Amino acid sequence: MKLNSKTVGIIGGGQLGMMLAESLKKLGAKVISLDPNSECSITHVCDSFICAPYDDLDALERLCASCDVVTYEFENIKGSDLKLLNEKYNIKQGIKSLVDSQDRLVEKDNANKHGLKTVKYFKCNTEEDLDNAIASLGLPCVYKTRREGYDGHGQVVIKTIEDKEKVKPYLGVDGIVEEYLKFDYEASVIMIGEGDKIVALPVGHNIHKNGILDICEVPFNIPNEMAEAMKEKSIEFMKNAGYKGILCIEYFIKDNAFYFNEMAPRPHNSGHYSIEALNYSQYDLFARYLLDLDYEEPKIMHKAIMKNILGVDLKNVDYYLKCPNSYLHMYYKKDAKPQRKMGHITFLDMTLDEFLQIEKGLE
Ligand SMILES: Nc1ncnc2c1ncn2[C@@H]1O[C@H](COP(=O)(O)OP(=O)(O)O)[C@@H](O)[C@H]1O
Ligand SMILES: [Mg+2]
Repeated sequence: MKLNSKTVGIIGGGQLGMMLAESLKKLGAKVISLDPNSECSITHVCDSFICAPYDDLDALERLCASCDVVTYEFENIKGSDLKLLNEKYNIKQGIKSLVDSQDRLVEKDNANKHGLKTVKYFKCNTEEDLDNAIASLGLPCVYKTRREGYDGHGQVVIKTIEDKEKVKPYLGVDGIVEEYLKFDYEASVIMIGEGDKIVALPVGHNIHKNGILDICEVPFNIPNEMAEAMKEKSIEFMKNAGYKGILCIEYFIKDNAFYFNEMAPRPHNSGHYSIEALNYSQYDLFARYLLDLDYEEPKIMHKAIMKNILGVDLKNVDYYLKCPNSYLHMYYKKDAKPQRKMGHITFLDMTLDEFLQIEKGLE
């Protein structure tokens, strides 16, 4: 082993960056992060920190120039800045998956091009586009901004024609309208690697509340052929689209078919359970990828339930901690807004039914 350990730069210092930094440090790496918030999560773990806005190109260059390899957990870095950084510095996973994921229309077009089905969707920038989309899709349907949406922000479920009014404030920015799918359930596949060496985590079952991930269950009651097909098609997609590093795909499942919903080129909330439940977590595997260490398909060591802790859930943490085999991760955020992700807790060797029983005790 070389005496000088590698230094990894992470653009963005939220909880995803913090948990990646924890894995990198277990492998002996140094971590430098850039984030506009001087009290962000990663400051509790990283070796050095640059406090600067994401559009401060000088600061981004300072970060990249001090690191052997650079990654990002913040998704909305300007395309032109990314291009420049990618030409000059070692952003190992490149920028293609990030740039494509910044636009819902592009990511859905790409999914279809590379063999993954989506629900029907139309571009929507004007009221005329909106009327045409509603006429074609019927109600309900869903309006989404093409850029910068997360946790249900920038979305309107159009249930009645009156709901058009809720979309009007968005018209003028680029958007899409898509079919509302009454799915059987949602699931995600997280992959690490590139080309012929891409490994996938087990398919996870995701339950959302108010557009935000609430609970993940792994493993779960999915037919084996379906899980295998989802993994295989996702890996093929990542490889054929030329995406590298880490990629999570969120799917809707209905009647034995799976539909690509969106993708994220960074560690994903639905993979938090992997820290305790797999032999290598999504963070461990991605850290190994970044540090040019070998990595392999992870194995399930325990079944697990992951529950996100939003501001509204903080009052329940003491109750959750009474459960055996519970692992709490707090993100050290000061401002506990009701729908803000403040932490998560993973319960090992627990079934979803058992967890729902425990939740009943809170009522
Ligand atoms: N077309 C749709 N049909 C049914 N439910 C949807 C649809 N689009 C989004 N949702 C629900 O809203 C959640 C958040 O939407 P998503 O497209 O993943 O955006 P983001 O996570 O970026 O806010 C989804 O996980 C799903 O529960
Ligand atoms: Mg989503």
